[in-house]
Amino acid sequence: MKVRKAVIPVAGLGTRFLPATKAIPKEMLTIVDRPTIQYIVEEVVSSGVEQIIFITSEGKSAIENHFDYNFHLDSVLKEKNKTALGKELDEISNLIDIVSVRQKKPLGLGHAIWTARHVIGNEPFMVCLGDDLVLSDIPCAKQMLDLFHDVGESIVAVKRVPQDQTYQYGIVEGEANGRERTFKVSRMVEKPAPGTTDSDLAIIGRYILMPEIFDILSTTTPGHGGEIQLTDALLALSKAREMYAYEFRGIRYDAGDKFGYLQAILAYGIRHPELGEDLIAHIQEIAETL
Ligand code: UTP
Repeated sequence: MKVRKAVIPVAGLGTRFLPATKAIPKEMLTIVDRPTIQYIVEEVVSSGVEQIIFITSEGKSAIENHFDYNFHLDSVLKEKNKTALGKELDEISNLIDIVSVRQKKPLGLGHAIWTARHVIGNEPFMVCLGDDLVLSDIPCAKQMLDLFHDVGESIVAVKRVPQDQTYQYGIVEGEANGRERTFKVSRMVEKPAPGTTDSDLAIIGRYILMPEIFDILSTTTPGHGGEIQLTDALLALSKAREMYAYEFRGIRYDAGDKFGYLQAILAYGIRHPELGEDLIAHIQEIAETL
């Protein structure tokens, strides 16, 4: 069973990042020199996935345009002899086969995934959230696909968080299963009230799911925040089949959150081949004045 398709939901309203996201999708906000969504698409492409399905909504067409061919821009760049730039833009539009599906109402992440059911069909697939960045040597998606090759069952990526922050995440409980950084899932809960779980394994925005999730999602009722929660459907899936939690190698940034976004800009900026050195010097300069 090969994972050929990745769903990237980008239909959320981005209310945590208002007013920046009033007219611009949060996925199009820039991290150093490219929009957040481009890092995620590049991660998926470099992991060997063949097709991306964007789950979009009104006002998100900039995302589709970013990965499309722009005839006018291409002609102008050619006229001005800016061939390197033209080539870079061309590469972006040729990265991968992309399909878009509309989520007509923002009913929650679970509902967003469910809208991809006809395009996915009966095969395992990957989900990467459009505002979740993972900085790592081996792309996070690739780490998960390698594990999937061994276990052949659903996998959720997790990271450890301090106990007093577990209420902000979907939390997984499970037993280490002998494989490195891997746990067999026994329970999951979306944003648990303080003191209701001992686990510190928080779900982040990377999943590999078996197609049975679609039947489960079709009967999942609204949960936390009145939204159809993917975590609720995952819990049901983990009861029907085995499911694994994988503590990925790398650092995750929630680029849909103002502070997470700032952290991501610094982390990606200091690693940038042309800008990194100057940025580090500037950070040191500012730090001395604090
Ligand atoms: P978030 O909760 O981070 O996204 O959902 P949001 O709703 O856009 O953000 P806030 O909380 O209002 O600031 C995680 C992912 O799920 C997508 C979002 O686009 C994001 O990639 N999502 C969420 C949908 O596609 N549809 C939804 O109905 C909800």
